[in-house]
Amino acid sequence: MRNRWTTALLVMGLGSVAWAAGIKISPSQTTPAKAASTTRPVVSARQTVSVQEQAWGTADDGKPVKIFIISGHQLTVRITTFGARIVSVETPDRKGKMADVVLGYDNLEQYERSTNTYFGAIVGRYGNRIAKGTFSIDGRTYHIPLNNNGNALHGGPEGFSTKVWTGRAIPDGVEMTLVSPDGDMGFPGMLTVHVRYSVEGHSLRIFYSATTTKPTVVNLTNHSYFNLNGDGRGNILNEVLMIPADRYTPVDATQIPTGELATVKGTPFDFRKPTAIGARIGENNAQLKVGGGYDQNFVLNGEPGSLHLAAKVYDPQSGRTLMVMTTQPGVQFYSGNFLDGTQHGKYGVTYEKYSGFCLETQHFPDSPNEPKFPSTLLRPGEKMRSETVFVFGVMR
Ligand code: GLA
Repeated sequence: MRNRWTTALLVMGLGSVAWAAGIKISPSQTTPAKAASTTRPVVSARQTVSVQEQAWGTADDGKPVKIFIISGHQLTVRITTFGARIVSVETPDRKGKMADVVLGYDNLEQYERSTNTYFGAIVGRYGNRIAKGTFSIDGRTYHIPLNNNGNALHGGPEGFSTKVWTGRAIPDGVEMTLVSPDGDMGFPGMLTVHVRYSVEGHSLRIFYSATTTKPTVVNLTNHSYFNLNGDGRGNILNEVLMIPADRYTPVDATQIPTGELATVKGTPFDFRKPTAIGARIGENNAQLKVGGGYDQNFVLNGEPGSLHLAAKVYDPQSGRTLMVMTTQPGVQFYSGNFLDGTQHGKYGVTYEKYSGFCLETQHFPDSPNEPKFPSTLLRPGEKMRSETVFVFGVMR
């Protein structure tokens, strides 16, 4: 397996391996695609991707919720306006059998009741943790309601994952829009956020942008849990992961970064060579114990602002592969440690610990309180832009 993987990595480096076919990596995703007409379904002229829109119930706040089905060649993605969430991603295994590679629920109600899993959601206004929910901008201090061990996690208890977004079909995908009012969850400024999901070949591309009316902080990511074996069955411990990061950001007992950029060398966080997720997860390591498994931010070696590699994953059982590219400086690798058998997911599957892993491309946790970390500050007149691409494939 090792040799084939290594070979594949080499070939992928040349950009021509079969499973990576269809990926178009360009850092210039600043030009929005032309808006689709209002006729449904929208079928792109450039490629055979169709977008369908369906009603998906009514949220607790009385807002109607929609689901969009984006179907490309051997890649079908469903996305709901509740939390702008990815609900399913169907891809083939090495025998061509299609299965769903993300965890999630059957219906809206289950998503609304599940407050701490963030399945498939766009998390914000600040993805991951802000220490004590407190930060200052220009000498003014702001407080976010606490929802995780005395800290604010994923934008606080009513973060973006709990909101009904506005969705509209665009060529090859869907654009989700959320206008977060000034003071929403304690954050300053009215923030207008657009998240565009599009299917291109074997890739699901996510393009984020945001503008504000007052200086604020922003850190947006997608919180999908992947299980490449399909349909959430079994655990992810045998899946083989590579993260091109020489350093990571160690955390304290409440999972707030200490500020140090520590080397991964000689630790269970060294994924520079492909390694099974489960190979070192049980090691006697203080950092692993804090989160009950992997739950760390990795400092990516690539150049922030341009698309670079964040991770590659290979599932020996199904042959499925996932490659993650991003413009972000970091990725939170989380091994589904808090799943505990109380989540009754799609296909009648109950999610136990390690049923799925997340690769949350992001700015580093608690950056508003760490001046040495890349800044998450956004001022009026500026536009926050970022991009992440999930490339699905198989290794035979
Ligand atoms: C992120 C966090 C984890 C956990 C999950 C959601 O990955 O870092 O600690 O909160 O979200 O359960």
